[in-house]
Amino acid sequence: MADYLAQRTRKIDASGIRKVFALADKLQNPVNFSIGQPDFDVPEPIKQAAVKAILDGLNRYSPTSGDARLLEKVRSKVRQETGWEEPLCMITSGVSGGLLLAFMALVDPGDEVILIDPYFVIYKHVVNLLGGKCVFVDSYPDFRLPVEKIAQAVTARTKMIILNSPANPTGTVYTEEEVRAVAQIACRHNLILLSDEIYDVFSYDHPNPCVGRFYEKTLLLKGFSKSAAMTGWRMGYAACTKALAPLMEAMNMIQQYTFVCAPTPFQIASIAALEFDIRPYVEQYRQKRDRLVEGLKGYYHLEKPGGAFYLFVQKPDWAASATEFVKTAIENNVLIIPGNVFSEKDTHFRISYAATEQTIDRGIEILRRLAKR
Ligand SMILES: Cc1ncc(COP(=O)(O)O)c(C=O)c1O
Repeated sequence: MADYLAQRTRKIDASGIRKVFALADKLQNPVNFSIGQPDFDVPEPIKQAAVKAILDGLNRYSPTSGDARLLEKVRSKVRQETGWEEPLCMITSGVSGGLLLAFMALVDPGDEVILIDPYFVIYKHVVNLLGGKCVFVDSYPDFRLPVEKIAQAVTARTKMIILNSPANPTGTVYTEEEVRAVAQIACRHNLILLSDEIYDVFSYDHPNPCVGRFYEKTLLLKGFSKSAAMTGWRMGYAACTKALAPLMEAMNMIQQYTFVCAPTPFQIASIAALEFDIRPYVEQYRQKRDRLVEGLKGYYHLEKPGGAFYLFVQKPDWAASATEFVKTAIENNVLIIPGNVFSEKDTHFRISYAATEQTIDRGIEILRRLAKR
């Protein structure tokens, strides 16, 4: 490691996922189950809105907290979903941007952040980068919210609990009862609840519970990357109640000196995204989930997930670790991600079914063959 690099760079590591992509580079026409983004393109009216915004000259900085028209739309959506009368909102550069601002505003060295394991990778690495301490609460084998274990994990240094429903990498959608129970723990200890709801529209069996309904010190992070397939446009938003006004202020201040603002033409296009009916796409994803779950039934241990576009599957017994299994899968032309990228364990692998039905069927055939050796 170069000696001019800051110490904090030693606290993060991208080797797991890099190895997968290095192996994948050599494949021709693989079954790609590794992608964390929709396989449809940005819907036409949203693209047109972006093109129009650029041609209309809306290419300059927006205010730090976002374009006023988009903010108004976002506020009314958040009001409707949470029941908050006067939500405080800001537009961020993707949910990743919102996460970075929130963590920078909240996490001091030594502060503890409770993560449900398996977790979305960014949480762990950014908390570590800032010198915080991740406290992992195991949710294996069914990936339901481990309420009792969360209560036991709280210490005097706990700053916040992160919830992510529908979840990456497990696809789990929590119930209202689970979320309410965790909100009560947060309330009892005066903790912040950060709720990453980027996959909220991809909830197939019941609506995703909106965490903000249960606790006023909730920071909601939502986005457009998955719902409008605009991962490259970097659009998201953060919302909270007046109870967290200093947090929203701090996040805006940090945005001012870092991202400056989210990309202006895409903010304008996001107004069209909020008006677009995504339900037919969601229905297609529900069918893809059912196809894959049905196809792997009897071959692998898995929990049928309620949302997102992931399946988190237990490795077959013959493989010593998920990493070993993934290596074999890649040698057989299927790209999947080993569980240790998202977890302190290495027993499962993630399949993304954001793929065509034909790809899903090819993948099922190969994975069935690899289940037994
Ligand atoms: C759970 C979760 N949160 C946040 C993000 C970041 O999304 P973006 O920064 O594109 O909005 C992702 C992307 O994969 C995710 O899976």
